[in-house]
Amino acid sequence: MLSREMNEKLNAQITHEFYSSYLYRQMASCLNLMGMTMMESYFVAQADEERQHAIKLIDYVQKSGGKLVLGAIDAPAHDFKSALAVAEATLEHEKGVTGRIHALVAQAESDKDYSTRSYLQWYIDEQVEEEASIMELVQLTRMAGDNLLGLEDRVEKLLKARTPIPAQDLGV
Ligand code: FEO
Repeated sequence: MLSREMNEKLNAQITHEFYSSYLYRQMASCLNLMGMTMMESYFVAQADEERQHAIKLIDYVQKSGGKLVLGAIDAPAHDFKSALAVAEATLEHEKGVTGRIHALVAQAESDKDYSTRSYLQWYIDEQVEEEASIMELVQLTRMAGDNLLGLEDRVEKLLKARTPIPAQDLGV
């Protein structure tokens, strides 16, 4: 059984995961305008993954007897000037997500809610992967400088190396 605080915080996180999806879709479109189609594909895939993160949490709230209440989703930024600006903003965003997941874990521990604590481990591990992948993207983008063609080749390899979330891990 979820505490009221835990239920509210999980609901807020679900809304935030949808916001992440929204943000990455916007970034993908900005990259499309820059003619960076591989990097656009990377962000489309990332947007889909964020939606899956939200759905996985919805499934958990429902299974745990909680009540799903979705919040409003803010409009994302859309004025990125370069691929590097997109990559750096993404890294900052993901660091924020990691902080939010850690705060959820702290709530679960304070509630002695060991089921939720255990469930959240998947998100902690996922954030380690996500931050590492985005850090690589920032480095590649910095190194490429104005060589956008070279950057697209490297991003294509990064995209192929991504492992999709297995269906059984989504809990749906
Ligand atoms: Fe759902 Fe990128 O964390």
